[in-house]
This record gives sequence, structure tokens and C-alpha cells, in this order.
Amino acid sequence: MAILNVLKYPDENLHIVAEQVKEVDEEIKTLISDMFDTMYELNGVGLAATQVDRHVRVVVIDVSEERNQPQVFINPKIIASEGEIEGEEGCLSVPGIYDKVTRAERITVSAWDENGEIFNLETDGLLAKCIQHEIDHLNGKVFVEYLSRLKQNRIKSKLLKQAKKEFA
Ligand code: NI
Repeated sequence: MAILNVLKYPDENLHIVAEQVKEVDEEIKTLISDMFDTMYELNGVGLAATQVDRHVRVVVIDVSEERNQPQVFINPKIIASEGEIEGEEGCLSVPGIYDKVTRAERITVSAWDENGEIFNLETDGLLAKCIQHEIDHLNGKVFVEYLSRLKQNRIKSKLLKQAKKEFA
């Protein structure tokens, strides 16, 4: 069990674009397992490798109430989307901040599972929202960047103040 350090906005490394995984080797398997440990420990529904400062296209998600349905998406790609829906989002990299973001309502994602097997999944609701949020992370984008410049600046200074307090 390993709890990894989660980067906090506005850390510059959250803007690094993650690279494709070429092979699901031991290193990737360990990363996936550590990411689940970290996500469950922090009560998140999803975590992208970018957030733990590992810049490979790996996402872990569990949207179940019981916290017993881990899902892995390696090299995820949205191949179809439909509709628009506005919903509230939060992020382990932006603690304490929740705001509304508009996303596709229904998506089909293509990805590899933890064994490197390709699969397609059509979904909506919380899972669809979460997959889009996590793929954004892999592309170096944090959800607050959909908000107004004014809001982003407020969030930035709030989080920087918090970080200073924790450090002191
Ligand atoms: Ni996030």
C-alpha cells in the first residue's frame, strides 16, 4: 500500500501532457495499484496519473457508493459523444473547490484495461463526467480552467494561501 503525493493546483506540473502507455509492465501495474490506494484514502472518485506527477496516460475511477468497483482506463480516448450537461465537479488537486462545468452527456470511451486489453464503454451520468474530467488531466487541463479568469485567480490565491499555512 502506498499513498502518493497529489499535486495541488496551480502546480505547473498539472499542465504536462501525459504520454501514451506502450506496454502494461510491472511499473505501470504498481502505479495503478498505488493510484487506487491514494484515491480511496482521499475519498476521490477518480485519479489521473498526472495528479501524482507521473505523466503517462493512466486513469483510475470508482464511482460506486460501496467503493468496490475499481475501473482502470489506460490510453483512454473518447470516440463518440452526445448531448451536453452541466454538473458540479471537484478535484483532489483543487481541494475544497466545487463548481459547475458543462460536459458531453453521453460518451463512448475506448481504452486498455489493466491487462492491456482494449475495450469500449458507452456510458453517461457520473462515470461519463468523471472520465472526461480525468482525460482532461492527462491533457494538462484542470477543471477550474473552464471557469472565468476571475474565479480562477480567486481559487489560485486561496489554494496558495492554504499551502503556505500547511507549510508553516
Ligand atoms: Ni481532478
